[in-house]
Amino acid sequence: MDDHNSTGEPDAAIRLEVNRRTVIETGTTVLLLTALPRAVVAAASVNGNETPSSPVSVTLHINGRPHSLTLDPRTTLLDALREHVALTGSKKGCDHGQCGACTVLIEGRRINSCLTLAVMHDGQSVTTIEGLAQGGNLHPLQAAFVEHDGFQCGYCTSGQICSAIGMLAESQAGMPSYVTADLTKSAAELTDAEIRERMSGNICRCAAYPNIVEAIKQAAGMPT
Ligand code: FES
Ligand code: FES
Repeated sequence: MDDHNSTGEPDAAIRLEVNRRTVIETGTTVLLLTALPRAVVAAASVNGNETPSSPVSVTLHINGRPHSLTLDPRTTLLDALREHVALTGSKKGCDHGQCGACTVLIEGRRINSCLTLAVMHDGQSVTTIEGLAQGGNLHPLQAAFVEHDGFQCGYCTSGQICSAIGMLAESQAGMPSYVTADLTKSAAELTDAEIRERMSGNICRCAAYPNIVEAIKQAAGMPT
């Protein structure tokens, strides 16, 4: 296949390497331009060159405690949590937004922490699996996962539980899913199909899905 255009130059589309850096620069550049301080945008490379970036100061309120960090502006939230705050409960599975193992809650909403930059959440609250139990008592979803055997190896579990917390809040707020049949209702009934669809971004290689659904139903106060 000829990868060159009529001028003999490599085609621009073909010159783009599809790798992690490309995703940051193409998919996230829009967010960078709209959500980041000007100094951060200037510090980050947006032209494909490997330029050094100046560290930036970020304060994250993680599990109720403020953490002031000095980070390379390209640090993902997942890497900030795991490598700078030593909270390793959030797992790195794919590092590409495809498995959900890194799911955490930002201001109560679920997000894949591998796909967002820590600097984009300066001043915001982050809840990880380590922040769910209160006073030695497991969060109801944690307890339900134990009771219903909702895990085997456990690698996906922190993401599953954080995602389920966010999912239940979305459902209670009336957000429909792809399988919601009646969009006129203020909140869709949480059927097994609804739960499976809403949790479809969280992969479990051990295939504990039936037990995960049961655990979520119990935590939601539904019959199991
Ligand atoms: Fe973030 Fe897989 S590690 S989605
Ligand atoms: Fe092993 Fe889900 S429990 S990947």
